[in-house]
Amino acid sequence: MNVQTAVSRYSAEFDLPVRGDPITADRYISKHWMDLEIKNLWPKVWHLGGVLAEFEEAGDIVRHNFAKESVIMVRQEDGSIRAFYNSCPHRGNRLILDEVTSVPRIACGYHNWKFDLDGTLAQVQDPDDFANGNPCGKVHLSELRCDTWGPFVFWCMDDDVAPLAEWLTPFPERLKGYGIENWVRVLKLSADCEFNWKIIRDNFNESYHLPTIHPELATFINDGLPDTVFEMYPSGHNAMWMKGHQATTRVDYHTTEVPAPLDDVARAWDIDPADFSGRTGDLRQAIIDAKRRLGPGRGFTNYDSMSDQQLVDYFHCTLFPNLTLTMSPEQLQVLRTEPHPTDPEKCVFQHWCFYPPVAGMKTVATPIGDVPLRHDAVQRHSVYGDGVSVGYVADQDLSIGTSQQQGLNSRGFKGCILPLQEKRVQRFHELLNDYVRGPGDA
Ligand code: FES
Ligand SMILES: [Fe+2]
Repeated sequence: MNVQTAVSRYSAEFDLPVRGDPITADRYISKHWMDLEIKNLWPKVWHLGGVLAEFEEAGDIVRHNFAKESVIMVRQEDGSIRAFYNSCPHRGNRLILDEVTSVPRIACGYHNWKFDLDGTLAQVQDPDDFANGNPCGKVHLSELRCDTWGPFVFWCMDDDVAPLAEWLTPFPERLKGYGIENWVRVLKLSADCEFNWKIIRDNFNESYHLPTIHPELATFINDGLPDTVFEMYPSGHNAMWMKGHQATTRVDYHTTEVPAPLDDVARAWDIDPADFSGRTGDLRQAIIDAKRRLGPGRGFTNYDSMSDQQLVDYFHCTLFPNLTLTMSPEQLQVLRTEPHPTDPEKCVFQHWCFYPPVAGMKTVATPIGDVPLRHDAVQRHSVYGDGVSVGYVADQDLSIGTSQQQGLNSRGFKGCILPLQEKRVQRFHELLNDYVRGPGDA
């Protein structure tokens, strides 16, 4: 009997071997590791930089500061979006200092060189004062690759990395039914955190922490091992399907009354929860049926293209190395950690929430409460621990980050000991090792 599949429910089709590389503390605390990641990892992956809704007009710019780097994405006259390093070719000054702006030309604040939106130098002071002649038309901003998928804009520093659509495999196909192209980013939250970026990556690559860190989810999401399916893809990305609209099988909710908040959800879909007393697990299918019957009439036009699983379940997509897309039937959460510019024991956490546009719907229930259904209705940056929420489940995940970072600094910590269900954590670190330990960098 294969104990691993019996316990951990890795999908046979999407299981991959791991080597058992040690996962020791140095990768979370050392500057050497951080420098290797800057050199060998971050240039080799696609980065989510913004959303299409931020680029309505030519000259609209979104700046993405990443560690010590800064990238600007610029909407062109022809509607395309191009990405440039945010560094002036004259003497290196950072060009765009706002996170979001709109300009007719990109101007440097130091000596006022001006660039067309396509990055071509268009105007300089004293153009005749250059040994090789006027540099205008000859000098360009350094450009990066830029591409889009769904509502997202991505950039990449390396020309040899696979094209974005290939890099994202299998998610464009697997998420197609949700129709996320026109979903609206309602929340754009971020926070400075006192732990390494990988601490939250590990957290998102396992559900072992749910009973302790998110106990209230037990009556709504079935995190029982026999029912949760883990997948690992050759692309390096992972996923986890959890049955939603169903209580956990770790606790006997299934022969009782329908627990809260599942009872309210049932009523919202015209189902009497009392009809499911003693067989609460059956409610999930009843909600699928009700959504099929009632959803389109309530404005959920994307239900017709969604699978039964997508109508009720939670699909957690962890993209290597640092991006998570958590799909629930009517909400897409982008959860990400990015490294601090200089300190391996700090990071920036970002949480964006998207919702499908539904005719007549004015507000949506978000992880920080009810919020108007419009682009970036709530935007804020905070310092974790100052009492400002980054979303109630995310707050719980972040709550463990600082104490884990502290514990990892102990001389007594000898390396992670992982149960089988944390195989995706193991695989993440082995893939990371392959990137980071380039030739001569061991
Ligand atoms: S550094 Fe930009 S114009 Fe001088
Ligand atoms: Fe969590």
